[in-house]
Amino acid sequence: MSQASGFFVTFEGIEGAGKSTLAQGLYDFLSREGWPVKLTREPGGSAVGEAIRAILANPDFKEITPLTEVLLLSASRSQLVEQFIRPQLGEGNIVICDRFSDSTRAYQGFGRQVHQREIGELADMCTWGVKPDLTLLIDIDPELGLGRVRTRSVQSLTQMDRFENMDFGFHERVREGFLEIAQDEPARFRILDGHLEKDVLLGKVIQIVSKEISRIIPHPHKLTFDRTMLE
Ligand code: TMP
Repeated sequence: MSQASGFFVTFEGIEGAGKSTLAQGLYDFLSREGWPVKLTREPGGSAVGEAIRAILANPDFKEITPLTEVLLLSASRSQLVEQFIRPQLGEGNIVICDRFSDSTRAYQGFGRQVHQREIGELADMCTWGVKPDLTLLIDIDPELGLGRVRTRSVQSLTQMDRFENMDFGFHERVREGFLEIAQDEPARFRILDGHLEKDVLLGKVIQIVSKEISRIIPHPHKLTFDRTMLE
């Protein structure tokens, strides 16, 4: 474990994999069960980070270079880790983060072809020693994932963002990148099939995370029970 007391779980995957819905579903479930849990996202999660996210997503900024992208993402991450993730873990909370450093390795490393060594050095600098305890990779065919994103953007009458607009080959490289990263660290990663029905997938996520956290953090219902016994 990389942090004193809490538990850090991250969701990763390409566009349209469904990870944000799953992260929210997991958060709702754990909160209802009384676990001390927080939900955040990257890029963003802090006021500064959300402003950086708006720059990164802006489809008018086509000229953003791959290295500039890494630096902006790193700035957002550094702010979020120092301001939010590390203190929350220090207090013994479960932190769920929608994307983290693996996204930079997959998108900017495999997708935009920035050298992994440079990405790794910046990641070491801006994560302040914090590493996910568990990472759920939601794997999906890019054709299906991008199809979902297109439908969403038509239905909500919003523009696709700068990443969503990247060519198909980019998204294929990102998917392959994620799978390679996961294979290198099998103890941390669980790969889940993003083609499964939403409820089935959420059930699997809840099962995996509940098992992992109950090894580390006392179950809230157990605490209530123990207190009653003492009265
Ligand atoms: P999303 O998480 O809502 O899909 O949007 C975030 C976008 O930012 C997504 O297109 C992936 C991209 N991104 C990177 O390219 N590198 C990163 O390190 C992170 C955190 C996100």
